[in-house]
Amino acid sequence: MKQIIILAIFFLAAFYAVQGEQCDLYYEEYACGGFNTTCGLNVTSGQQLLCQTGYYCQFANKDDKLGLCQESIDLGGKCTDDDQCLGSYDCENGVCAETQFAQLGEECASTADCYSKLICSTATKTCTNSSTTCHDDYDCQFDENCGKDNQCFAPIAVGQVCDKDDECGTYSLCEKLANGTKVCAAPYSLAENAICSDNGNPNKITSCDANKGLVCLKDVCSLVNTNTLTPTPSDVKCNSTATTTCQDFEDCICTSAGDQGKCYQTSATPTQSLQCAKANSKFIQCLITNKCQNIVKPSSCLYNHCASEYCDMKDGCALPQAINQVENCQDIAQNICAVTGSSSTIAIPMFTVVALVLSVFFF
Ligand SMILES: *[C@@H]1O[C@H](CO)[C@@H](O)[C@H](O)[C@H]1NC(C)=O
Ligand SMILES: *[C@@H]1O[C@H](CO)[C@@H](O)[C@H](O)[C@H]1NC(C)=O
Ligand SMILES: *[C@@H]1O[C@H](CO)[C@@H](O)[C@H](O)[C@H]1NC(C)=O
Ligand SMILES: *[C@@H]1O[C@H](CO)[C@@H](O)[C@H](O)[C@H]1NC(C)=O
Ligand SMILES: *[C@@H]1O[C@H](CO)[C@@H](O)[C@H](O)[C@H]1NC(C)=O
Repeated sequence: MKQIIILAIFFLAAFYAVQGEQCDLYYEEYACGGFNTTCGLNVTSGQQLLCQTGYYCQFANKDDKLGLCQESIDLGGKCTDDDQCLGSYDCENGVCAETQFAQLGEECASTADCYSKLICSTATKTCTNSSTTCHDDYDCQFDENCGKDNQCFAPIAVGQVCDKDDECGTYSLCEKLANGTKVCAAPYSLAENAICSDNGNPNKITSCDANKGLVCLKDVCSLVNTNTLTPTPSDVKCNSTATTTCQDFEDCICTSAGDQGKCYQTSATPTQSLQCAKANSKFIQCLITNKCQNIVKPSSCLYNHCASEYCDMKDGCALPQAINQVENCQDIAQNICAVTGSSSTIAIPMFTVVALVLSVFFF
């Protein structure tokens, strides 16, 4: 159900992004309400009224568009829907419970404890794959991937020739060498000037060595240069014919009808990207060392071994308040990391919401 809400936000965002050609429709307001404030969808304005961390939107009737923010239900409390339960908890048999936290080979009491398609073996009381074919990587051992033929396979080792990312090990990418040959590269391992795949998402894993100050910029591992930053103009023309003076990590948002606009930060600055990459490299290394799958639950391997690295990554990769509004509103990790909610209403550009929602999906 939580995924459905995120998807709904995504489609709504996509809808407004399409509508957003006209200047004054370019961005929408998001609220982030506390106890007993109105939430849901304002069909007149298209505004999404979210509840802040620790609250869920309770609708009086099933088809209501608007409801009231109520306190989330903690472990063991009665519920009828996943959305009512605090953070990453789900509604299981009418009670908020922690589900799907155990990876392959870990202990379980019932199948609800096992992640994805794994089942709890009654004989061994551990999570096991349910058939001779795999559905996803979670069905396979940590060092193996699930192939297109639904069989687990040992990925291509670091430094060996590859064609695609999914042939390489967990978190490794298939990167080009200077002569065009592609080889698997360990995350955060490549030196300055190495070719990297710049996916444009600073929160995603790259092959460049963050601890040497490198991030992937335009497909090259580059030293972050904070001196290139120039002051952001407060008054610019947004339209496509005007020479925009906004920086790479900013976008021009119209502030009134016509093309009068302002530069808003919409993604991480180079310095923020590096900070995020450094924190993420420690987190990924911890997952690899402990063979933990990326399962964010209070009883998961990730939490048992890499909780501090995970929370440092969340902090290090957190974007400024205005950009991060949706994530701040509804932080699924709230019962893992201490997060501070916000009850303010901030305008954010729609495509940022799209990017954020996408990053939640693919990260
Ligand atoms: C919550 O809001 C509703 C509607 O505005 C009101 O009737 C109700 O008394 C409020 N409840 C509390 C506990 O404040
Ligand atoms: C919904 O949007 C309209 C138009 O912007 C506004 O007048 C109204 O107060 C909003 N309702 C709520 C519940 O936010
Ligand atoms: C099932 O899990 C075992 C480890 O318990 C693993 O060795 C095997 O490759 C997995 N097979 C499939 C098809 O998922
Ligand atoms: C490209 O360079 C790598 C490493 O220097 C080397 O192993 C590989 O054989 C080269 N490939 C070609 C096609 O020359
Ligand atoms: C775009 O901006 C330029 C320069 O400010 C202006 O001359 C032009 O009329 C604008 N076009 C539109 C469609 O607003």
